[in-house]
Amino acid sequence: MSRPKIAIIGAGQIGTVISHLIALRHLGNVILYDIVKDLPQGKALDVQEASRIDGFDVSIQGTNTYEDIQGADLVIVTAGVPRKPGMSRDDLLTVNSKIIRSVAENIRQYAPEAIVILISNPLDAMVMLFQKVSEFPVNRVMGQAGVLDSSRFCTFIAQELSISVKDVNAMVLGGHGDSMVPLVYSANVHGVPVMDLLIQKYGDENKAQHMMQTMVERTRMAGGEIVGLLKSGSAFYSPASAAVAMAESILRDEHRLLPVCAYLQGEYGLHDLYMGVPAVLAQSGVIKVVEIQLSPDEKNAFQSSALQVKSLITNMQKLNLL
Ligand code: NAI
Ligand code: 2OP
Repeated sequence: MSRPKIAIIGAGQIGTVISHLIALRHLGNVILYDIVKDLPQGKALDVQEASRIDGFDVSIQGTNTYEDIQGADLVIVTAGVPRKPGMSRDDLLTVNSKIIRSVAENIRQYAPEAIVILISNPLDAMVMLFQKVSEFPVNRVMGQAGVLDSSRFCTFIAQELSISVKDVNAMVLGGHGDSMVPLVYSANVHGVPVMDLLIQKYGDENKAQHMMQTMVERTRMAGGEIVGLLKSGSAFYSPASAAVAMAESILRDEHRLLPVCAYLQGEYGLHDLYMGVPAVLAQSGVIKVVEIQLSPDEKNAFQSSALQVKSLITNMQKLNLL
């Protein structure tokens, strides 16, 4: 069987870590594209030269030419500008829309059969824009956000309970913005509700609820927390890991159920909108959006998040970006 070809658009912080993770997991040969001359070639060579140490024999090639992505099975888009301290993801709308439009036109021309995972912010709006410009089938276009946001939520729960994160399951749905929706009632440690463990720890339901709310808020602001610490640029190791988990489920046909920015066609009462929902990822892309029971609070929060995403789409339309 021939190795999958994976194109990464944007050889910045996230794109480069993705290429290294793909190599470490032997997922396929990588083409790393960027508009900056020599940058992707330098990054690709650096990763390739780790091959003897890490024991991988996939190829990592840098390029400034879209023709080199021809025949890609999967494209991961990280091109764009990251936020600076004080900026929200939504502040990137105009600048990144222009970038994503040109990226979509080129992927449509050179890799028309590819499955595409977008990472660039503001995520939900960029995924919608990419799909509209490329006219790819909606199941072949998706965004990464929920895998990262959920991992952040799980990390905070594990730290709070002094329990291995390997046993924590918790999902974050909705848009990738401050309105995202960490699911509290289904969060569990090997089936045991996190709320029960917090009540055991604090011996008081109000205190337990307060701690859960603190973790929910920290999850919502987690991207900004890192931007504030880094001073320039945003998180890149964990977003790259999240994208590679999605890529692996697609390329290895794993059928994982992951929180994915996927296209909604009536699910959760929403139409013609990309947003974070549980979805099954397999060789042909998103093969199923899964509707799960939400508590009344979660349902309300999910619908408010949808309004937030819709207002971004409206802004793009007003600015003639979509
Ligand atoms: P970065 O600035 O390190 O890399 C972006 C790269 O895109 C640069 O190398 C730049 O030259 C390149 N680029 C710009 N215009 C391009 C074009 N037209 N075609 C191809 N490449 C182009 O940024 P980083 O940290 O890698 O972040 C990338 C994006 O991902 C940002 O928009 C950021 O906000 C977003 N992000 C999304 C997350 C998520 O969970 N969805 C998490 C963290 C960041
Ligand atoms: C993050 O969540 C900024 O979207 C980026 O880290």
